[in-house]
Amino acid sequence: MYVLGIETSCDETGVAIYHAQRGLINHLLYSQVDMHSEYGGVVPELASRDHIRKLVPLIKQSLQESRLTGADINGIAYTAGPGLMGALLVGAATARSLAWAWKIPAVAVHHMEGHLLAPMLEAKPPEFPFVALLISGGHTLLVQVDGIGRYRLLGESLDDAAGEAFDKTAKMLGLGYPGGPKLSALAELGKPQIKFPRPMTDRPGLDFSFSGLKTFTLNTINAIEKTVQDKADIAAGFQQAVAETLSIKCKRALQQTGLKRLVVAGGVSANKQIRASLTDMVAKEQAQIYFPRLEFCTDNGAMIAYAGCQRLMAGQQQGLEIFARPRWPMSELS
Ligand code: KG4
Ligand code: ZN
Repeated sequence: MYVLGIETSCDETGVAIYHAQRGLINHLLYSQVDMHSEYGGVVPELASRDHIRKLVPLIKQSLQESRLTGADINGIAYTAGPGLMGALLVGAATARSLAWAWKIPAVAVHHMEGHLLAPMLEAKPPEFPFVALLISGGHTLLVQVDGIGRYRLLGESLDDAAGEAFDKTAKMLGLGYPGGPKLSALAELGKPQIKFPRPMTDRPGLDFSFSGLKTFTLNTINAIEKTVQDKADIAAGFQQAVAETLSIKCKRALQQTGLKRLVVAGGVSANKQIRASLTDMVAKEQAQIYFPRLEFCTDNGAMIAYAGCQRLMAGQQQGLEIFARPRWPMSELS
């Protein structure tokens, strides 16, 4: 079974073809970063319009590169949410229309389920059950995963998502959009001399809160920032605080569930220091850690094609309606 995957929830147009037995056949990504960077963040209306321009040419290119035609495709998976409504509608309407024209099923995929399953595309995928830490621009979730669609929320951010905290802190440091990778590059030039708080680590529970780090950063900037080195030190202090906070909570989640496998996915899982800190923690816990390859940490079509293929194989599909949900709690998945 060949599944075409389509991702358009935010600022990347992702397309992929996944084969149920042969694995990933092809994947293409067009990033809108250059267009949005002029505005310092994602402009939803521009995002939708750009998805319209790029999506169909990318699908054609992906089929061509795979030496396939529409007649070979057995199902279409598209990101139906959460995300920007206009952007989601482009993917959903395109997927639904192609599925209708090609007389094949279409399945709506939850974007965070896509991230969660991205490590399944690697050579050594994790076995169920595992604990998953999902850290993206919009979400910070700790989930116990017993199988596909069997998710138990262990903890989540009560305010800003981890990626959002990176983006906002980067903005305060004058780094622009997209903040996460820029802040991380600057942090490599600095030393974590200033001790940032490790929010909510001194009380029990698996929830997160990152908004306090913003205030702390702002006060620190006002108090000390004078040179480029000061900025780099602030970036390093911030990054270390996030990395340690995530490690403390993941360690707790492993201990609480008794599980020995940790999956880390979503855009922020591309961060080197966070990967290193979680890898160290997991080694001490005598557990295993699984990440997607770097290009599948951030948004992509491959994870959507994979997740959709699993759901299609389980007999799920959408009706003829164009299904898009900008807000879609993972707890509603089955
Ligand atoms: O998963 P993703 O591509 O999109 C969402 O679903 O939100 O995640 C994007 C987020 C952004 O906040 C971005 O700044 C962050 O991931 N990010 C990073 C890094 N690369 C991307 N944050 C820290 N370090 C990175 N290297
Ligand atoms: Zn994402």
